[in-house]
Amino acid sequence: MKVKRASGRAWNELRKMKAKVGVVPNADGSAIFEFGDTVAIAAVYGPRKLHPQHMQDPATGILRVNYDLLSFSVADRKRPGPSRRSTEISKVTEWALAPAIDLEAFPNTVVDVQIYIIQADAGTRTAGINAASMALAHAGIPMRDLITSVAVGKIDEQIIVDVDKVEEDYEGGEGATDFPIAKLARSDEYTLLQLDGKIPPERFKEALDAADKACQEIYEFQKKALKEVGE
Ligand code: CDP
Repeated sequence: MKVKRASGRAWNELRKMKAKVGVVPNADGSAIFEFGDTVAIAAVYGPRKLHPQHMQDPATGILRVNYDLLSFSVADRKRPGPSRRSTEISKVTEWALAPAIDLEAFPNTVVDVQIYIIQADAGTRTAGINAASMALAHAGIPMRDLITSVAVGKIDEQIIVDVDKVEEDYEGGEGATDFPIAKLARSDEYTLLQLDGKIPPERFKEALDAADKACQEIYEFQKKALKEVGE
């Protein structure tokens, strides 16, 4: 590896993960998921009747995601309330999670997923997706699979796994690339692919393979935390 990571991690090494379900007792399902200093909490309510009634769909339920950063999650106090960024991340998270859920089993309903980032050090959308997927499973919503998510990236020539804030902000050489992905854990079905920066087409497969391996690790971690419910 040519580039030394500020954290001392190997190029393919994830930050330390932590995960726990059942952290919001009032919710139908909930989970906390951490990648190092990035901490996401997700709570699920539903399926419940969707109001106003004219928005109900007799053919299917709908998934509604709300993502936000708490003001104290970042050093420069984040202004409370929705922003273009939180609207975008809510939407892509909704799209990332929906393929895992059998919403047609719950016509006229909504499943609400609320994601709050209590500490942010890059990778908040991916940590949020991991937490939300676990919270949906914890809520007993029928799922085809868990959704597992990570951001891989590139510093100069080097592919790196689980980009942190120092790495995301790197401006030397060729600069940094952030490439968040999400997938159905046991398949090659991707539900989120975003790219901030550049990955040459001939290195795309390499980056995706690195993400796949990381997702496998994350998936095992999610499953372990789900099994620990009630222990
Ligand atoms: O968090 P993620 O990498 O999914 O999305 P991003 O929009 O690329 O944000 C990268 C990081 O910038 C966040 O994880 C935060 O650490 C930081 N950030 C911040 O400091 N203040 C904000 N208002 C928004 C993001």
